[in-house]
Amino acid sequence: MNEVVMQLMKHRSVRAFEQTPVPEEQLREIVAAGQMASTSSNVQAYSVIAVTDTALKHELSVLTGRQAYVESCPVFLVWCADLNRLAQAASSHLLDGEQTYADSAESFVVATVDAALAAQNAAIAAESMGYGICYIGGIRNRIGEVTSLLRIPRLVYPVFGMCIGIPSASSGQRPRLPVDAVLHRDVYEPGRTFATIGAYDDTMVRYLRSRTEGRKSTPWSKIMAEWLTRPNRLQLMEFLQGRGLLRR
Ligand SMILES: Cc1cc2nc3c(=O)[nH]c(=O)nc-3n(C[C@H](O)[C@H](O)[C@H](O)COP(=O)(O)O)c2cc1C
Repeated sequence: MNEVVMQLMKHRSVRAFEQTPVPEEQLREIVAAGQMASTSSNVQAYSVIAVTDTALKHELSVLTGRQAYVESCPVFLVWCADLNRLAQAASSHLLDGEQTYADSAESFVVATVDAALAAQNAAIAAESMGYGICYIGGIRNRIGEVTSLLRIPRLVYPVFGMCIGIPSASSGQRPRLPVDAVLHRDVYEPGRTFATIGAYDDTMVRYLRSRTEGRKSTPWSKIMAEWLTRPNRLQLMEFLQGRGLLRR
């Protein structure tokens, strides 16, 4: 393995942080590394809000479902899909009343993927500097309140948050599905994927038992059944449409 792959293979989410701030120069370097991710048609349809203000982080930790590390991390990045900047940039070139497709499902996917690619590049950059990170999808729990709190304009939505800071405790590494579960050859092979699930259930049961002194031992497939049958953030579609996104 080369150094980059070794860095990637060391990833684990970090949920306990030292209070040491992330220096401005390093924060800018992390975001600049994020910006070098590939981006669909060079649209760069994302923005990131770096939250360091203690009161704001406190409010965000409440809004994300009382996730204490949102408050305790020195910097909390809110990664947003941003079609607003594009609309602004294009406006002087549009004819009077000319319609745009900022509200299409395709534009939504482009902006969301762009935000995720930039965020993941930034995450790797941060980890390579010795920081730990944790993505926070909980930012979408009360997305309307987060949007007001951070003054996020129309055509922009917060995709996820990201805690960054120096880890204050070592955390275990969560095993992944075997490569054979996700890697298909030439065509999609459902039988081959299915065959790997039993073994992964066993791996995850062992992992959970060791992490919780035997208190948790639910197989991964059962956790996925619970996840799939839970109505999660069903208000999102209406919210996004209200912000001018995902209308056709
Ligand atoms: C988009 C996204 C949202 C996530 N949201 C949360 C979250 O709200 N809270 C949390 O503690 N972890 C969150 N995570 C972290 C995942 O739980 C974690 O990445 C996964 O369980 C694998 O563990 P690992 O990152 O330690 O390898 C999120 C991860 C992603 C990619």
